[in-house]
Amino acid sequence: MLGRVRQFLIHISGTFKRLDENYLVEHLDKEQLLLFLKLSKSDAQHSIRVAKAMEKHAPEELKYVYAGIGLFHDIGKTIRPLSVIEKVILVLVHAVMKDGLRKLVRFKSVESYLGHGRSGAEILEMRGIFYNTPWVRDVVRFHHDLPEHYSDDDEINSKFNKAMDSLKLADNDN
Ligand SMILES: [Fe+2]
Ligand SMILES: [Fe+2]
Repeated sequence: MLGRVRQFLIHISGTFKRLDENYLVEHLDKEQLLLFLKLSKSDAQHSIRVAKAMEKHAPEELKYVYAGIGLFHDIGKTIRPLSVIEKVILVLVHAVMKDGLRKLVRFKSVESYLGHGRSGAEILEMRGIFYNTPWVRDVVRFHHDLPEHYSDDDEINSKFNKAMDSLKLADNDN
């Protein structure tokens, strides 16, 4: 609970800071940048923090991909942006109800909060982002609701699992 409150305070404070434009230009092409900028300011700040944290711990050959996952993991939130009040309520209700929040999914704000992984993956698919690495879109798709690992039996599953672990860690800390 305290972790979530701390996360929320960091979230709000990001609203007053400048976006790290250099980082964005280094990692995104023009079309991707326009998509990214549809995120609310605080979601954009969060995504940049997650991208940097993931990149730092990524295997050398996947640094760029990990940064991309961090930048776009919450892109589904652009479909139905939440107001600050809605976020406060949802964070508190989620902390209390945990998985029981799913029962409230008929509320549009709850659907957006719970379903943004899936809608994010669809946005990326539609735009051909991560076209050559579909497993990356699956990381975005399942980042809040995949309870278990895929088995590590092939190279793609193992990449998927490692990236998912990295995203969950970075997402929680940022
Ligand atoms: Fe998310
Ligand atoms: Fe996130």
